[in-house]
Amino acid sequence: MWPVTVAVFSLAVTASASAVCKVTPHDAEWPTQAEWASLNNSIDHQLLSTAPVASSCWNGNPFGSPVSCSTVNSAWANASWQSQFPESIDYPIFANNSCLPPNASGYVKGRGCLIGGMPQYIVNATSEEQVATALKWASTRNIRVVVKGTGHDLNGRSSGAYALSIWTYNLRKLERHTSWRDPSTGRSEDVYIVGSGQQWGNVLNMALEQGRVVTTGQDPSVGLGGYIQGGGHGPISRTYGLASSHVLQMTVVTTEGQVLVVNNAENQDLFWALRGGGPGLYGVVTEYVIRHHPAPRNVVMGNLLIAPKGSSNHSAEMSWDAAVTHLSSLPDLMDAGLAGACMVAVGDMAMSFGSLDQFTSGVVIKQVFWSFNSTPAAMKTLVNPVIANITQAAGGNSSISVSFTASNTGNYSSFYSAISGSEVAGGESVVSSRLLGRHELIETPLQKQKEYLKTAMRSQNETAGTYATVGLQGGPGVRNTAEEQWGALLPAWRSAYLHFISNGATVDSKAASSPKLALQKAAHWNEAKERMWREWSPNSGAYMNEANPYTSNFKQDFYGSNYERLVQIKAKYDPSYSLFVLSGVGSDQWHYDLDTGRLCKGN
Ligand SMILES: Cc1cc2nc3c(=O)[nH]c(=O)nc-3n(C[C@H](O)[C@H](O)[C@H](O)COP(=O)(O)OP(=O)(O)OC[C@H]3O[C@@H](n4cnc5c(N)ncnc54)[C@H](O)[C@@H]3O)c2cc1C
Ligand SMILES: *[C@@H]1O[C@H](CO)[C@@H](O)[C@H](O)[C@H]1NC(C)=O
Ligand SMILES: *[C@@H]1O[C@H](CO)[C@@H](O)[C@H](O)[C@H]1NC(C)=O
Ligand SMILES: *[C@@H]1O[C@H](CO)[C@@H](O)[C@H](O)[C@H]1NC(C)=O
Ligand SMILES: *[C@@H]1O[C@H](CO)[C@@H](O)[C@H](O)[C@H]1NC(C)=O
Ligand SMILES: *[C@@H]1O[C@H](CO)[C@@H](O)[C@H](O)[C@H]1NC(C)=O
Ligand SMILES: *[C@@H]1O[C@H](CO)[C@@H](O)[C@H](O)[C@H]1NC(C)=O
Ligand SMILES: *[C@@H]1O[C@H](CO)[C@@H](O)[C@H](O)[C@H]1NC(C)=O
Ligand SMILES: *[C@@H]1O[C@H](CO)[C@@H](O)[C@H](O)[C@H]1NC(C)=O
Ligand SMILES: *[C@@H]1O[C@H](CO)[C@@H](O)[C@H](O)[C@H]1NC(C)=O
Ligand SMILES: *[C@@H]1O[C@H](CO)[C@@H](O)[C@H](O)[C@H]1NC(C)=O
Repeated sequence: MWPVTVAVFSLAVTASASAVCKVTPHDAEWPTQAEWASLNNSIDHQLLSTAPVASSCWNGNPFGSPVSCSTVNSAWANASWQSQFPESIDYPIFANNSCLPPNASGYVKGRGCLIGGMPQYIVNATSEEQVATALKWASTRNIRVVVKGTGHDLNGRSSGAYALSIWTYNLRKLERHTSWRDPSTGRSEDVYIVGSGQQWGNVLNMALEQGRVVTTGQDPSVGLGGYIQGGGHGPISRTYGLASSHVLQMTVVTTEGQVLVVNNAENQDLFWALRGGGPGLYGVVTEYVIRHHPAPRNVVMGNLLIAPKGSSNHSAEMSWDAAVTHLSSLPDLMDAGLAGACMVAVGDMAMSFGSLDQFTSGVVIKQVFWSFNSTPAAMKTLVNPVIANITQAAGGNSSISVSFTASNTGNYSSFYSAISGSEVAGGESVVSSRLLGRHELIETPLQKQKEYLKTAMRSQNETAGTYATVGLQGGPGVRNTAEEQWGALLPAWRSAYLHFISNGATVDSKAASSPKLALQKAAHWNEAKERMWREWSPNSGAYMNEANPYTSNFKQDFYGSNYERLVQIKAKYDPSYSLFVLSGVGSDQWHYDLDTGRLCKGN
């Protein structure tokens, strides 16, 4: 599976007898400076030594960051800003908090600025040849490889200790081809051809100027790479399905150094895997050929707020009844044309979401709806009967307050600016995710749903409370996606309406003795939620891009019945297993220790 001479040697030098590890700078097999320099020569001098941007906040600026500490400090929580640096990731706890500015949540004075959990070297890729040369070079030397586009990954999958990183940021092609010939059908298609380092905001802006839209997520700085390979939901997925279903072709570089064109006519297995089968696993995508769709002429938006009145236990309880009644009405509303996003909040968070002046043990629902080419009156006609049901479920209007407004928002640009922009980076969190459909929301008795929802909303700090994000991102557009467009996307998406992202676990790397322990504790606490999801929705799964990367059930939850086939495709295209990500296909055979930085086979 990997170069035997290297592996045997590394056994002797570094690891326990049962484990085989990727090499690190502590191992004799790690390439010399001269060897790295010769790699640099062979890739047009695009090799960077990792130089953390926050180095300027540490004594003597050990890595010579050109960005001043005060700039780093004030911009640290800005995901767009983070996305432009070769080594930066949004959630640096997954890179062991190795070089933070004082403003960062995991900052510990005196800890210093190290490469630590970040990759050692980075290829600032500008061509497929560079990527091919670097991948082959690293994999024959048993070096771990990671891929980074924006670094927005919630689970740190675009970083890794002692790795060589392929940074796609400068692969920024963005073109329309109105008569692109699809090799699998022979038909001529009107497509966008987009470099994998592009960010959705740029693609959307070009599309809107041409009266078109693309399957973006809710924030413009998210990249195509990980988003597409994990699925990719957003404001139009209810209408058109997920982003992975709108790719017609990709160009992929494998860890063996091959540059492959993949589509429904050639390398179909790899094409299938890359559409929803997980990011950062099968190779480095350099280019996507994607579909675009007509832009809606106008967008209607509605705001619904449901909150308990006062602080009595009765009204609190009634607000939970209202909440499950609301969630259970969403599948029909989505089939009738609405999409949107719902925030569910408890504790102090509920007070702030609902502008309440008294603490409640109840729940606040803040729902945003949108619909395309429709009217506010039509939206009200759909939502008012739901409000009547909600009020009835809460025993009338003395325990809860419900308010609803709907209005025209204008064109899609205005709409997109209204819903996006929360691009916050730098936090420490471990979420828990579930896809919910009619079985969970309608066929499950409301009393049972209420128990499940209370568990989903549990928070380690009950006073602070927490919030959950519920996306109305499944439904007809996803369900009606043609089989040949489905790829390896989790089959549970077919019957999903809602994507529920639950927070509540406390991740505190300062209180724990290391990021590793802080993440482990949070993941452990999340297990009760994971058990609840499996009981409520045994045949459903999670959205891997916004889920708990430590869940023991990841094979079923993230990949479902596709898992075994994906293991084979992974072995075929990455036989050296150079590309490891948390809860990736085959990752159960490996152990990544954030404390030592070692990635070893076995457990
Ligand atoms: C602010 C914000 C908003 C978000 N909103 C949404 C949303 O609305 N809908 C949604 O579905 N998700 C959303 N997400 C989650 C998003 O899907 C994931 O964070 C996703 O991993 C982002 O992909 P990326 O390429 O931008 O990130 P990166 O961190 O660069 O990469 C993520 C993963 O993809 C791999 N990867 C990246 N590029 C390539 C490539 N070219 N070839 C092979 N592997 C690659 C990386 O190795 C890594 O495993 C959001 C995340 C953030 C931070
Ligand atoms: C690669 O070469 C360029 C150009 O000489 C140089 O600036 C860069 O520092 C080199 N990279 C490494 C890792 O030495
Ligand atoms: C972060 O640092 C900047 C500059 O040092 C400061 O102005 C700002 O208030 C800090 N922000 C937070 C959230 O601490
Ligand atoms: C975040 O950073 C981007 C890129 O540097 C910048 O354009 C944007 O204005 C910043 N946002 C905020 C809120 O500062
Ligand atoms: C990770 O951080 C911990 C301390 O928080 C440290 O002990 C450990 O050496 C670090 N590991 C790496 C690989 O940087
Ligand atoms: C990456 O390469 C491009 C093209 O050569 C160059 O313009 C850019 O400055 C490089 N980025 C870094 C961080 O070195
Ligand atoms: C409300 O419920 C809490 C916990 O369930 C209980 O301790 C408290 O006594 C109740 N308050 C009233 C007024 O019933
Ligand atoms: C209102 O509730 C009834 C009874 O549960 C249900 O049949 C109906 O579909 C609901 N209406 C809406 C609009 O959700
Ligand atoms: C409560 O409902 C009644 C009857 O449906 C209505 O007349 C009244 O205005 C409502 N009160 C509030 C505060 O909404
Ligand atoms: C959308 O509407 C805004 C505000 O009315 C306008 O400035 C903008 O040009 C419009 N965009 C498109 C693509 O039509
Ligand atoms: C819980 O959160 C509240 C703020 O909502 C905070 O004041 C309190 O210190 C937190 N408790 C713990 C144990 O972290």
